[in-house]
Amino acid sequence: MSDKKIYQEELMDHFKYPRNKYKIEDPDFYSGQFNPSCGDKISIEGKIEEDENGILRVTQIGFDGSGCVISMAAASMLTEKCLNKSVDEILDLDKDDMLKLVGLNLGPIRLRCVLLCLEALKQGLIEYKNKFVGMTRSKS
Ligand code: FES
Repeated sequence: MSDKKIYQEELMDHFKYPRNKYKIEDPDFYSGQFNPSCGDKISIEGKIEEDENGILRVTQIGFDGSGCVISMAAASMLTEKCLNKSVDEILDLDKDDMLKLVGLNLGPIRLRCVLLCLEALKQGLIEYKNKFVGMTRSKS
């Protein structure tokens, strides 16, 4: 089976059986994004804890939303990838990381589909840091 086909099957699997598509009780961060050109929307929320080295980590993460196969599958894959990652590691994720994650080469319009969830997640984490840590760093 070709790599492309494997990626497509994985994408469809995440779309049909989304991981982490649930609400988090009393979340530490929350953010939503909306794509006005298609109406798709995604929200991501989660819990953050400081580990024994003083590093902030996302210890629970969930998403909700409605949209195209790519946007929903990307959100599912992203939440899987980010569970237990540090807040700073997540803030360093960019478009290339997302394209690698979903395994697709996309044009500018469909690129928005994979970035919607990342933008929501990063915005939520930046707001959290601004509120509770007082500093942010993020590459776009
Ligand atoms: Fe709307 Fe993909 S078509 S985000």
